[in-house]
Amino acid sequence: MALGHHDDTIDNVSDNEHFQTVLARGLADPARRRLLRGGLGLSAASVLPLVTACASDSTGGLRALAEPAAAAKLSFGAVGKSLLDTVVLPTGYTARVLHATGDSLDSALAAYSNLGTEIDDWSRRIGDHHDGVDIFYVGASGGYSAAATSRAVLAVNHESSADAHFFHPAGQTSGSSTGLKFDQFGSWDGGVRPELESLKEINHHGVSIVELNLDSAGKVTGYKQDSAYNRRITPQTVVDIRGPIAHLANIRQMMVTRFDTTGATARGTLNNCGMGKTPWGTYLTCEENWAVYWNMPSGSTLPDAKTIASRKRYGVASTAPAGSTGKLLGQGWYTAPNDTNFRFSRFNVAASGASAVDDFRNEPNTFGFNVEIDPCAPGSTPAKRVAMGRFAHEAAVCSAPVAGKQLAFYMGCDSRNEYIYKFVSAAAWDPADIGGGMAAGNKYLDEGKLYVARFSDDGTGQWLELSYDAPAIRAYTVYAFANQADVFVNARHAADAVGATKMDRPEWGAVNPANGEVYFCLTNNNSTNRTPSSTNAANPRAYTDSDGKKSSGNPNGHIIRFRESGGLSTATGFQWDIFVFGAEEDADADNVNISRLTANNSLSSPDGLWFSPSSGILWIQTDDGAFTDELNCCLFAAVPGEVGDGGAYTVLNTQGSSTGIQRTFVGGLLGEARLKRFLIGPKGSEITGITETADGTVLLVNVQHPGEGTAAIGTASNFTFESQWPGNGVSAGASGYGPAGRPRSATLVITRTDGGKIAR
Ligand code: FEO
Ligand code: CA
Ligand code: CA
Repeated sequence: MALGHHDDTIDNVSDNEHFQTVLARGLADPARRRLLRGGLGLSAASVLPLVTACASDSTGGLRALAEPAAAAKLSFGAVGKSLLDTVVLPTGYTARVLHATGDSLDSALAAYSNLGTEIDDWSRRIGDHHDGVDIFYVGASGGYSAAATSRAVLAVNHESSADAHFFHPAGQTSGSSTGLKFDQFGSWDGGVRPELESLKEINHHGVSIVELNLDSAGKVTGYKQDSAYNRRITPQTVVDIRGPIAHLANIRQMMVTRFDTTGATARGTLNNCGMGKTPWGTYLTCEENWAVYWNMPSGSTLPDAKTIASRKRYGVASTAPAGSTGKLLGQGWYTAPNDTNFRFSRFNVAASGASAVDDFRNEPNTFGFNVEIDPCAPGSTPAKRVAMGRFAHEAAVCSAPVAGKQLAFYMGCDSRNEYIYKFVSAAAWDPADIGGGMAAGNKYLDEGKLYVARFSDDGTGQWLELSYDAPAIRAYTVYAFANQADVFVNARHAADAVGATKMDRPEWGAVNPANGEVYFCLTNNNSTNRTPSSTNAANPRAYTDSDGKKSSGNPNGHIIRFRESGGLSTATGFQWDIFVFGAEEDADADNVNISRLTANNSLSSPDGLWFSPSSGILWIQTDDGAFTDELNCCLFAAVPGEVGDGGAYTVLNTQGSSTGIQRTFVGGLLGEARLKRFLIGPKGSEITGITETADGTVLLVNVQHPGEGTAAIGTASNFTFESQWPGNGVSAGASGYGPAGRPRSATLVITRTDGGKIAR
């Protein structure tokens, strides 16, 4: 998701220690302080267990990793930098659009006008803001098969309402002073929303599932209209509320609404960001910034104090009429007429009735989950997996499955100062469950333990269980937990209680299939939350961009990684280091561009992250607002090393007049051979979501919100656009996709012109 949407959202006001506290404790030791200033001596080995080597050359102490072996080399020429309104690829590659916002799932529905003139409710069109994506092969039975290669469906997430003004002829008709644009994060003017506008804006969220057209070589040639697999999961699709049997009654009690007074079901999914693919062949769509769609109209009756305490920790409207930010939250959908089955009034979360069965005060409790979908079973009911916790789910990546061993799912909560979580299944993995659909999901995702990460200053970390039996949770006074169900549903509070480590916006994670190590993007931080004095071992930089946007804090982000103790999914400890620091190539080399990035691999705000199972390449995607004066958002290919393969490094932060000193572990200098820029997106876009066909010769990559920010241009009668992608030309020199004019999010199909495997 783009900067600006939620970069000022901070709901964690807990006082559990931040990394700077950890760091300060470390620096209080004079011996350690000398060590950190001066680099490593022999004594370092005892306190820096991850360090396997360190150099003292002109690079300031970082060890340059060796070039990859021939079989592991990246086989393309890196692309330089681009600000063009088109996709840029290396020589020898082509891109086409599979589908874009508004494309129809059925031939009976008219092709998309791209003028906002559609009068259907968007429930059979491709959603907007393409995000997480994965491919699922269909076997002879018609269900998922891990071995099939000739038939497949593609699931794509649709994240945000930030560009909903493009769906209407002249923007939103009740809105900001421009009359053009407002989004779910605020600036709706409080007026009555039209029914059709509201329906379009609601239904473009969720997930699109389409059957792919594959040729005899397995290449993707398009998607199949009218396939029985084509499906939209929207915020109105009925879903099951699922959790551990022992706690299910208490869970559902918290989900009771006027729609389902038993709490057994809820409606739909919102703000679908990253994803996960389960070993049994289902899709997890992750609900990220779901908290901002709800309204409390003026004069509303507030819910009870405990509900308010819960809402405040999640950023849900807790006062009337303003949200926690003081802005009118949501898009005002609750005001729309023709409220069939409460489809609009559900977004009013006031305690307007006598009890929870009479209103939608609990509606926000039904969001903030990983939602499991079986893309190969169009009639199946999706399920919200409550035991995986409720927070701003970014993505959910599974550990490498081992028969007879439990599965772990690693999950980030994307807001400033939030946490990294892990869910460990109670059931051990049985490959016989491949193709087991939602029943297998019940087995692996309903029963298990939820943990949150604490990063220690010695390069180790701990997984802290979020259990109602934990003394810290029993004793927590900020939010009085009633039971384990309450711990799952208020996982952020529980994580505060046990003392998790506040991180810098954890985005996607990825698991290296070669060794099981887990990578996480920490996309960026601002100058309010990251100053020299508040830096720490895992977030070691505070600086000001020296040119262009001159952003301060940690504007370019970094990627952290860890190795579970014993390589076990069930481990309660891990070792961590930092894989790469984002930076502009002309930034201060000692303290900012520590990873020595060049014009061919400089990157900012890593966000999407994915390992190719066919090539072992780590793909890194960016969602940036700091370096975009020089470079649009990008896709990078990296050859991973392993935790501890670099050297220890001391960074000296000298932003402004203050100075902070930190140490960090760094995964060494990757160099241009191990990290290359592969793709650059069009203007205003984010590159997010990536997967590949079974043979690794087709890469599917999402382009989200090209032209974001366009609403400030023009007026309702003069609606112009910063970007016109993809109508203006999909890639450099190529023809456009669909009607030109308004920008559209899209899924790209990328191939090598020689038909070979991507990037190897
Ligand atoms: Fe949806 Fe945090 O990106
Ligand atoms: Ca700059
Ligand atoms: Ca620069």
